Amino acid sequence: MKINENTLLEGHRVLLVPYNEEHVPRYHEWMKSPELQQLTASEPLSLQQEYDMQKSWREDDDKCTFIILDKQRWVDPGVDEEQCMVGDVNIFLTDPSDPFLAELEVMIAEPSYRGRGIGKEVTRMMMSYGITKLGVKKFQAKIGLDNQVSISMFKKLQFQEASVCSVFKEATLELMVDDSVRTKLQEDVAYMKERDYKQTCSSRHELVQSTTVALGNKDCRRKQSKI
Ligand SMILES: CC(C)(COP(=O)(O)OP(=O)(O)OC[C@H]1O[C@@H](n2cnc3c(N)ncnc32)[C@H](O)[C@@H]1OP(=O)(O)O)[C@@H](O)C(=O)NCCC(=O)NCCS
Repeated sequence: MKINENTLLEGHRVLLVPYNEEHVPRYHEWMKSPELQQLTASEPLSLQQEYDMQKSWREDDDKCTFIILDKQRWVDPGVDEEQCMVGDVNIFLTDPSDPFLAELEVMIAEPSYRGRGIGKEVTRMMMSYGITKLGVKKFQAKIGLDNQVSISMFKKLQFQEASVCSVFKEATLELMVDDSVRTKLQEDVAYMKERDYKQTCSSRHELVQSTTVALGNKDCRRKQSKI
């Protein structure tokens, strides 16, 4: 999808940026992991196939993909963007007869970044983007029955089990986007900023200040909650 080809979404700990050719080598390395192949139900691809996949994700109108970056690392212009990659998050418009139905996929590929709230943050950011920019009204997540972490995360985000396929050992979780879901999501990601990707790349250091402010605010909240 080309809609996000120059979009950067800024969260607390992460940045979501369009999946570009320069991200492919690291992505390819990740997907050599048998654990990730199993958790994401993916087949290993050659490097050339991975480049072709990146191109199709960019071109096809039914796929919207962002790469997740570690914001703290990225604000240092001396660090290559590839070295800031943490995972990816995707929306697939899977049913041509229902343009409002979106399948969500999240992968925190770097194990050291898991279990720190990043999965929840990027899923919320992507849902908000899907609702406001793509008009999504219903989300689905298809998850292997043995991937309890992912099932638990989507249930925390109010998804409910809709069906279980025993042949594929996969559960489908769903969330209808009604007014209360929309309002709660807007509150949860009120801090999210949408920026021009290329422009922000050329002045990465400008994010330093907003990162410091965001962290400062977090500390303030923590202190207040202790009072
Ligand atoms: C599944 C995944 C996206 C979750 O992201 P994450 O950043 O690790 O998760 P978060 O820290 O945001 O936690 C979100 C919820 O997941 C659950 N969770 C996270 N780590 C967990 C663990 N070690 N054990 C059990 N539940 C866990 C909790 O319900 C948590 O909510 P809580 O913090 O309110 O308790 C991530 O672990 C991942 O990408 N794993 C590998 C690939 C994968 O499985 N992708 C999903 C394919 S469907």
